[in-house]
Amino acid sequence: MEQTLHLSSADQSAELAISNGTIPAKDLRAFSTPDGPLATYDPGLLNTAAVKSSVSFIDGDAGILEYRGYPIEQLAENSTFLEVAYLLLKGELPNPAELAEWERDINEHRLLHENVKQVIDSLRYDAHPMGKMMAAVSSLHTFYPDSRVLDSPQARTRNSMRLLGKMPTIAAWAYRHSLGRHWVYPDDDRGYVDNFLHMMFHQNEKRRQMDPRLERAVEILFILHAEHEQNCSTTAVRTVASANNDLYTSTVAGIGALYGPLHGGANEAVLKMLREIGSVDNVPEFVEGVKSGKGRLMGFGHRVYKNYDPRARIIKAAADDVFEVTGVNPLLAVALELEKIALDDEYFISRRLYPNVDFYSGLIYEALGLPPEMFTVMFAVPRTAGWLAQWEEQVTDPEQKIVRPKQIYTGHRGLTYPDASA
Ligand code: CMC
Repeated sequence: MEQTLHLSSADQSAELAISNGTIPAKDLRAFSTPDGPLATYDPGLLNTAAVKSSVSFIDGDAGILEYRGYPIEQLAENSTFLEVAYLLLKGELPNPAELAEWERDINEHRLLHENVKQVIDSLRYDAHPMGKMMAAVSSLHTFYPDSRVLDSPQARTRNSMRLLGKMPTIAAWAYRHSLGRHWVYPDDDRGYVDNFLHMMFHQNEKRRQMDPRLERAVEILFILHAEHEQNCSTTAVRTVASANNDLYTSTVAGIGALYGPLHGGANEAVLKMLREIGSVDNVPEFVEGVKSGKGRLMGFGHRVYKNYDPRARIIKAAADDVFEVTGVNPLLAVALELEKIALDDEYFISRRLYPNVDFYSGLIYEALGLPPEMFTVMFAVPRTAGWLAQWEEQVTDPEQKIVRPKQIYTGHRGLTYPDASA
């Protein structure tokens, strides 16, 4: 059924066509107001669709997430991260031959130019690894100037594969730099996740293999974190790309946005919060504090999900497998109690606040022996696949324009510069 929105005032009227549940915002300009043409005011872009995308789909009320049409539960159960990255970037699942070629291509790009070491090395050992990652990624376009040639599909694909291949190396080196350990180079015989864990944790042993259950848990976490439509970091990537920027420069914006504690930084904040709470007995008092405005329950709530985040459910199950190997993290009891009390409490029920992807992921990363500062890095590595898919859509979509929102000006006008002699 075709719908139109009818706007009217004493002296004007306008008909706005509704399509895909939206009106073209620029058509509002036909309607004039005492302050100029009509526009929308939407802090945080709560109710504004700024792009058309076929990468992922979320139904926040039903708790559904799909990548290119495939439910996240099926992907987490059946696929590998690189297979999901292929799906996100190419639009379809690969057949076995395509997957083998893709894995070869990505893994060929794992090495970093030796000068990137110096970029990381120039920072303090205790600099936050997200800062090290931003510095390293921001340098990459200078090594690969072909990345600035946006109208070459071959250059775009080549650089996408490069970045996907290099992100684990950057993350692992950022981590080892903080420990003062030697750099571990990629191992050609290992797959994407196995090699990443190897580059982070290798010491002097000839060949160390992590328990396959731990490796699979990281693979699942990577699949779950790979993409999430127009979230804050993806919007940052698209905004920088809208000025015709290369994918490295655009991705740095995404890493910066993800670093924030309201976004990907929440997994680090969750662990700090659980440590502060300390024991199950302290949970009720902590929840009361949140309700009275003393901070937020980190790892809870979501702009889009008004139901249990489907990723949190899968992570909770993956955590059980990890704890079978590592022993139970004592903070799990605090997290479970927190979830139980919050899900039963009118404050959280009425605001439809449920655990999100970050609530349990930190407990897994801690069980692997990673410090909290690395948690958001563990998010950034797989999210790169989603950023790259969205970057590609942004720079090839003829309807897209340089991002340049309007403002409501609230300052002074036309002041006279003070006369110094007066
Ligand atoms: N703890 C306590 N109260 C909350 C929380 C929370 N975690 N989240 C939202 N609220 C309350 C908020 O105070 C407000 O209450 P009131 O209506 O009385 O003012 C109401 O719920 C709506 O909150 P909002 O800030 O308008 O919601 P938003 O959609 O702008 O924010 C959010 C979404 C994810 C930033 C927010 O829920 C939050 O800060 N959560 C904690 C941080 C977190 O876990 N972030 C990770 C998000 S998932 C992974 C990712 O995308 O990176």
